[in-house]
Amino acid sequence: MRAAWYAKQGPAKRVIKVGEMDTPEAGPGQVRVRLAYSGLNPSDIKRRQGFGGQQLGYPRIIPHSDGAGVIDQVGRGVAKSRLGEKVWIWSGQWQRPFGTCAEYIALPARQAVAMPRRMNLLHGACIGIPAITAHRALFADGPIKGKTVLVTGGAGAVGNYAIQLAKWGGAALVLATVSSPAKARQAKAAGADVVINYKKQDVAQRVMRATQQEGVDHVVEVAFGVNQPTILKVLKPHGIIACYASDKAPEPVLNFYAFMQRNANLRWVFMYEIPDAAFRQATRDITAWLSKGKPHHPVAETFPLSQTADAHLYLQSGKANGNVIVAVDK
Ligand SMILES: NC(=O)c1ccc[n+]([C@@H]2O[C@H](COP(=O)([O-])OP(=O)(O)OC[C@H]3O[C@@H](n4cnc5c(N)ncnc54)[C@H](OP(=O)(O)O)[C@@H]3O)[C@@H](O)[C@H]2O)c1
Repeated sequence: MRAAWYAKQGPAKRVIKVGEMDTPEAGPGQVRVRLAYSGLNPSDIKRRQGFGGQQLGYPRIIPHSDGAGVIDQVGRGVAKSRLGEKVWIWSGQWQRPFGTCAEYIALPARQAVAMPRRMNLLHGACIGIPAITAHRALFADGPIKGKTVLVTGGAGAVGNYAIQLAKWGGAALVLATVSSPAKARQAKAAGADVVINYKKQDVAQRVMRATQQEGVDHVVEVAFGVNQPTILKVLKPHGIIACYASDKAPEPVLNFYAFMQRNANLRWVFMYEIPDAAFRQATRDITAWLSKGKPHHPVAETFPLSQTADAHLYLQSGKANGNVIVAVDK
């Protein structure tokens, strides 16, 4: 099969190669998926760069955890009825060497989730990490029906799904922050009721005005360290802050007493290691939402397999307004 891989960590253009590799076979309990698209996430970049001391871990890595394709082989113990099923994939390259940036992947059957027949595979490759992270950030602490939810970075891959799943989950009001008019359109298209440009507007003031000075019950937070002062101005007592990133301030100083006096709940989200039951609930809910809702999957750009390194550089540039995808069969 054709695949992209790297055998040492470093800059995309230097370490990512494209060529032929052995086609995997589905082992017991596994399915093999003939992939059409591979979805990139910031974690794929971080892993290749060795961010936070991450090691290569294996002699060769086929990058990317997300993807979509069709099951073409099932291993022992997996129902034959799954052959021909259109699926989206999660954690394809988490604690496994060979991810989705290849024509085929063999992986545990539960990590290939059936997608609605009418949905296209390009959109299927957007779902994995972003949608499961968004789901966990919203629902780890119970239902959000009737709640007021603030999604920071509402045009990001996770933020976009967080807005959509918050609406699906019955949130009464969803507010989102963005940094540009283009990103504001994206957050609106996802269903945000109120969109705030955090570079130009006073977020706390706008949130308080939009909530009749009550504040928000739940924050889905992409930049905890830098946004902590704002959160403290808008979080209701007993509110929840579900944090999944803090890239610009990785070691923030916690304003302990301010959080304590609100009885605030800090929820850390690390998608790869959520409990099994949470994965099952997330894939069930995402399936229900995909089938019944009107999902919006913003694809920023699609690259052919031969340009996988360019896809990495594009995501790294911070200019992508939506998901970055590699078409592995092109
Ligand atoms: N913990 C987990 O399990 C988990 C799972 C998935 C992703 N992540 C991490 O989460 C981060 C985002 O991932 P992603 O795939 O959603 O990336 P993405 O598509 O690049 O989105 C990130 C968004 O955050 C916005 N942003 C950055 N700083 C902000 C701030 N101070 N306030 C509000 N918005 C801000 C960015 O827009 P502007 O810069 O234009 O504002 C961008 O729209 C990455 O660090 C990723 O590694 C963690």
